[in-house]
Amino acid sequence: MIQEIFPGIFADNKKIYTKDSSGAYRLWNPITSKLSAALHKRLKQTFLKANDVVLYLGASTGTTVSHISDIVGEQGFVFAVEISPTVCRELVFLAEERQNIAPILADANQPQTYADKIKDVDWLYQDIAQKNQVEIFLKNLRFVKKNSHAFLIIKARSIDATKEPKQIFNDVREQLQQDTEIVQEINLEPYKKDHVMFVCKKN
Ligand SMILES: C[S@@+](CC[C@H](N)C(=O)[O-])C[C@H]1O[C@@H](n2cnc3c(N)ncnc32)[C@H](O)[C@@H]1O
Repeated sequence: MIQEIFPGIFADNKKIYTKDSSGAYRLWNPITSKLSAALHKRLKQTFLKANDVVLYLGASTGTTVSHISDIVGEQGFVFAVEISPTVCRELVFLAEERQNIAPILADANQPQTYADKIKDVDWLYQDIAQKNQVEIFLKNLRFVKKNSHAFLIIKARSIDATKEPKQIFNDVREQLQQDTEIVQEINLEPYKKDHVMFVCKKN
């Protein structure tokens, strides 16, 4: 039997789903979406609900964005930032089907270039495999309402392939603790090697 485990998120015998506007369940694959992987790895709370406004950095073709769009629903909104014009094209097609997504072709490292296009958000999610991924996240925290939540996926090898991932995660934790309270940390193995999700609350 399918049960709602968090607002807008459903589970049935180890499978996770969101529900689209027609009421159909959409399977949420932990291999192709790190947020689904985190749910499979016992994420304690999503802090995400209907009507929320979301800023998503590193949207790619919109696989995870589409599920977040299901969760926030027609009265919610997702600003989806992506740097690559090729994949952003797919995102534009997705936004044509779904009225609650705005694709933004931009570099998340330069938040001033889209600051006038978005408003304060209830929830931030970043999945960008760049060396300065923590710096990008901290720069974009300015858009998050106080006491709201921000999720950061860290890919250790993108920061420094020569260092032990554990050391990198320790360094990231220290940096994040200056501006946020870390609510949970989830290692995404076996779905993703050397990836950790940090769930942060903005101070
Ligand atoms: C791992 S993929 C994201 C997958 C996506 N989050 C999902 O679950 O469907 C990372 C994406 O970040 C984008 N990216 C890399 N650097 C970026 C930047 N500085 N600003 C915005 N997007 C960036 C890449 O082009 C790529 O599409």
